[in-house]
Amino acid sequence: MNDRLAPNALLDPSDTFAERHLGSDAEEQRAMLAALGYGDLEELVAATVPASIRQAEPLRLSGLDDERPLGEHELLERLGQIAAKNRVFRSLIGMGYADCLVPAVIQRNVLENPGWYTPYTPYQAEISQGRLEALLNFQTLVADLTALPVANASLLDEATAAAEAMTMAYNAAKGRRGVFFAAADCHPQTLAVVETRATGLGIEVVVGDPATAELDQRLCGVLLQYPSTDGRLHDLAPVAERARAAGALTIVACDLLALTLLRPPGAFGADVAVGNSQRFGVPLGYGGPHAAFLACDERLKRLLPGRVIGVSKDARGRLAYRMAMQTREQHIRREKATSNICTAQVLLAIMAGMYAVYHGPEGLRRIARRVRLLTRVLAAGLERLGCTLPDGPVFDTLRVELDAERHGTADEVIARAHTRRINLRRLGAGALGITLDERSDRHEVEALWTIVDGYRAPSFNAGQLAVEIGEEPPPAPHARDGEILRHPVFHLYRTEHEMLRYLNRLERRDLSLTTSMIPLGSCTMKLNATSEMLPVSWPAFNALHPFAPVAQATGYRELIRQLETWLCEITGFDAFSFQPNSGAQGEYSGLMTIRAYHRSRGDDARDVCLIPVSAHGTNPASAVMAGLTVVPVACDERGNVDLADVRAKAAAHAPRLAALMITYPSTHGVFEESIREVCDAIHQAGGQVYLDGANLNAQVGLCRPAEYGADVAHLNLHKTFCIPHGGGGPGMGPIGVKSHLAPFLPTHPVIPVGGPQAFGTVAAAPWGSPSILPISWVYIALMGGRGLTDASRLAILHANYVAHRLGGEYKVLYRGERGRVAHELILDLRPFKKSAGVEAEDVAKRLMDYGFHAPTMSFPVPGTLMIEPTESESKAELDRFCDALLAIREEIRAIEDGRLDPVDNPLKNA
Ligand SMILES: Cc1ncc(COP(=O)(O)O)c(C=O)c1O
Repeated sequence: MNDRLAPNALLDPSDTFAERHLGSDAEEQRAMLAALGYGDLEELVAATVPASIRQAEPLRLSGLDDERPLGEHELLERLGQIAAKNRVFRSLIGMGYADCLVPAVIQRNVLENPGWYTPYTPYQAEISQGRLEALLNFQTLVADLTALPVANASLLDEATAAAEAMTMAYNAAKGRRGVFFAAADCHPQTLAVVETRATGLGIEVVVGDPATAELDQRLCGVLLQYPSTDGRLHDLAPVAERARAAGALTIVACDLLALTLLRPPGAFGADVAVGNSQRFGVPLGYGGPHAAFLACDERLKRLLPGRVIGVSKDARGRLAYRMAMQTREQHIRREKATSNICTAQVLLAIMAGMYAVYHGPEGLRRIARRVRLLTRVLAAGLERLGCTLPDGPVFDTLRVELDAERHGTADEVIARAHTRRINLRRLGAGALGITLDERSDRHEVEALWTIVDGYRAPSFNAGQLAVEIGEEPPPAPHARDGEILRHPVFHLYRTEHEMLRYLNRLERRDLSLTTSMIPLGSCTMKLNATSEMLPVSWPAFNALHPFAPVAQATGYRELIRQLETWLCEITGFDAFSFQPNSGAQGEYSGLMTIRAYHRSRGDDARDVCLIPVSAHGTNPASAVMAGLTVVPVACDERGNVDLADVRAKAAAHAPRLAALMITYPSTHGVFEESIREVCDAIHQAGGQVYLDGANLNAQVGLCRPAEYGADVAHLNLHKTFCIPHGGGGPGMGPIGVKSHLAPFLPTHPVIPVGGPQAFGTVAAAPWGSPSILPISWVYIALMGGRGLTDASRLAILHANYVAHRLGGEYKVLYRGERGRVAHELILDLRPFKKSAGVEAEDVAKRLMDYGFHAPTMSFPVPGTLMIEPTESESKAELDRFCDALLAIREEIRAIEDGRLDPVDNPLKNA
């Protein structure tokens, strides 16, 4: 019994959260502080975080009472009340999103399973074989259905995948062809993202009808949609042929379910195929997260963005998987990179791949045939009721021209549909779009007839019309020949038992946070608590279509507004955009915001971006995508950004200076004392400061980026704010801005968001991936201002404790002025190469033998390991990890002393 609890406190909830999230208790903290020579946490923080940037008052968050923290259950009840304000209608809006039946075995054992949702990107192949196989299934699925041989392991959404494909086309033409053609019947959000992306790269986008447009030699590529946004199946082969004759690439945005029946893009001349795999068993999620795909012809594979999984052999010659191409390669190329994609949509790609494994080719084709027949039955009935439908074959989407006298206007039909809790797409004053999906059935089709015909019940039913029109394959040239998905994996796991065991077998080959700490520096692999994850599965959050009328998403609006308020209070910014789906996409969005701001002031010439050499590779890659010229800034021997060099470069480029991108605390794991001076120097030269917020976990409650000089920053919600990494995604990279930048925040062509002078659109959905926002909301609500501040303090304590325990045997590369690291530390292993022939990779692999995931290898300094323990690990786990590294140091010493063979030793054989 805890006698210290006052009776009224005893009446408070017994399931408060902070002590579950924070790894070390008061006694363990005292022990660690004593080892470091500090009396309390505040003393340590004062020695770590520069006094010049500390926030003046404790962090308080609106609506949260630190004296009375919420219990997990009452908070979830409160969130349930917010969720209940969302109204979940059947959305037959289409536009790249189709509802589906998530197989329960996949929902429970992948989406809701920390064994699948907590691992990091599979950089360490030895402990990622399960995920790698699952991702290879996804790639095989995409390559097979698109009939293009090389597919990547996901992109952020269909719209950005189309933009990435445009960049491929531009680069394939070596930048010599500056025009890109896009068919007007692509989804509007795809056109918006492509047009925005083109501005940064200086590409001119021409939108038109591909059947009549002149395709000439100025074009690098042509983007087509199959089926089109309003459901039509055009024969695209002649367009592809004309594009080829003009020397341009053909890119086809397509639908994987339709391709089980339709001629694949690779067979009608496409060089690249892109699309959204959401309807393969992933909830709508009000826009995301979902996995987009990109497949291409063999000759373009070197230009492929994102990660590609390949088949290889292990040391004993057995089949093994590994990342064959990865974004890190792009990162190493920095400003020469062709894409900035880093975090992608791995968890969702795994779900989509597993959906295909579960259903197999026959199951998928049955779903597709059913959807197509229902759509044709719907069409036949609508024609009988006086609607006009375009001639030609369809898959799942109809363009319906209404008879004004009989049916009324599109708005009237849409209003009637709302009374039956159905959403339809408005395609004009007298036209509708209707998309059926896996959830559709004969009753829905009959209800649609009744709705369109002014609530009059038709004199026929769906069964009768199905018999009348019969099932027939898509007509030539659209029908697909031959088998699909012949790989054995799509034939082996048809029963639920087999599927369950397959999922479990793969999961057991991987290391996730369910096994041990994952000390990846810069990645913040902290607790992803179960209470945070539960709401992701609630239909009130995950069953909304992204373009459902906003009046149906009142709960979401409240949640997003609240989250924005809290993030503003935490960072000091004035407004946020939730559109970016990753940190790198946040970087790009932030820089585009800065550019729009400069332009609005007539400062068009500002196109130089200063970036320290220690920056993450996505920083220069994003700057180039935003049309900026990168000028590197030096770091000094202590790892700090060289203030003199910043001043010199800012002055030298003053008339053209757009921005500085800086990570704080630095990627070297240090709170630099000079951050204010650095920001001042940029402002004095007329530039803006972009802060890479990947390291916010060391700052919450201690200092605010907007107060010490940042104008805009992205936050990786998948680091600091507990969205799990999902094996390499999903993520969210919202950007916070000061008020002068708010008017330029990104908008959306379907649901207007952002500022009145928005620079454009960066994602397919208005708020990126809303269904994972409840994770961060729950984390913040449960922790409160005090809990979040404690999390930062403990992240710093744990890192310094690890540095202390290892510092005698390993060199800790960089420390702050008072000898302290921030929330992560870099161990320099380069000396061991000379003394024992041991490299960072050997130590990383040996750690796996001790049951740990390796720390981040060779970033930001080659030959080093970067460790980030986070606040969530217990002292016991930290000690276990330090003991493992100390034992490895002994093994290195044995090699150095000649007690172990330099080649045949536990490190080299790890
Ligand atoms: C310092 C830093 N900046 C940017 C990024 C890119 O973020 P994301 O992977 O969410 O695109 C990362 C990711 O690891 C990072 O560590």
